[in-house]
Amino acid sequence: MDWETKVTRLLGISYPIIQGGLAHLAYSDLAAAVSNAGGLGQITAMSTSGPQELRSEIQKVRQLTSRPFGVNYAIGQHGRPFEEMVQVAIDEQVPVISVTGGNPKPVLQKVKGRGIKTLVLVAARRQAEKAEELGADAVMVVGHEGGGHLGRYDIGTFVLTPQVVDAVDIPVIASGGIGDGKGLMAALSLGAEGIEMGTRFIATQECRHAHQLYKEALIQADESSTSVIKRSLNSPARALTNEWTERILDLEKEEAGYDGLKDYISGEANKAFIHDGRQSEGFGWAGQVASRIKDIPTVEDLFKRMLMEAEQIRTRWS
Ligand SMILES: Cc1cc2nc3c(=O)[nH]c(=O)nc-3n(C[C@H](O)[C@H](O)[C@H](O)COP(=O)(O)O)c2cc1C
Repeated sequence: MDWETKVTRLLGISYPIIQGGLAHLAYSDLAAAVSNAGGLGQITAMSTSGPQELRSEIQKVRQLTSRPFGVNYAIGQHGRPFEEMVQVAIDEQVPVISVTGGNPKPVLQKVKGRGIKTLVLVAARRQAEKAEELGADAVMVVGHEGGGHLGRYDIGTFVLTPQVVDAVDIPVIASGGIGDGKGLMAALSLGAEGIEMGTRFIATQECRHAHQLYKEALIQADESSTSVIKRSLNSPARALTNEWTERILDLEKEEAGYDGLKDYISGEANKAFIHDGRQSEGFGWAGQVASRIKDIPTVEDLFKRMLMEAEQIRTRWS
């Protein structure tokens, strides 16, 4: 079946499926596996130790695949020389850069005219319009179901996607709550030209940085197993509910503020859970779609299954 959309043409990929940035999880192994399966894999730049490691991860992806891939930047993450990190992707002539978490203007300006495709991840219609104005090649819209950092207005993917599709002329990629062929077809029905998935890719063989217990916790999750934390910091984000996130929510109720929360929401607390499997000493980001995850396939098998399911739906419709 033909899977060509504006997004596959824009990015030079076979299937309209993009692996979202995944803090401390998405390195060259996962990115190459997704690109080799026909989607767009991405390295999460700000999870590398700095420009040197980022360059080496980009070079590793190139050894593992000849297909297009992306580098994802979360703006406003501290501890790395942001401009220098973007420059590495430009010097290495990566095919795609995606940006999230702040004003994308400086990155889009820096990348302009370099032959690199740009994707901006947004969580509101106005942000999508702004990204288009600034020259982004496509927008990814993430609904409230999604894992990790979210928009401030709690808008679900089913409402946000068509709103943005109607508001901008550039292709829209739907994200948040998608993990199978049903989600892919639903997104295309809403007018999206592709999908982005985060949580589903954690429970794959090639997401080697994710501890087995994190993957198993995703499999065991049901639709009420996630919580939105960090609302009090105006930076809501969805994680698997556990004692640690319950403690964070209690602290938020007590108006602990950033100083009272910082040790609980730190990268170290995140890594204690997702890298080391110390589940009572940290947290792991995840979306509501965790409830739909039942196994840990290879990325290639995941793609095959999703596409087969989507094709069955198409056949049924026709
Ligand atoms: C563990 C985890 C880490 C994430 N880290 C990033 C990140 O560093 N940069 C980014 O743009 N998005 C990040 N996201 C968001 C995803 O790229 C994607 O937009 C989101 O997971 C989509 O929702 P889903 O989880 O329902 O698929 C993260 C999501 C998760 C689950």
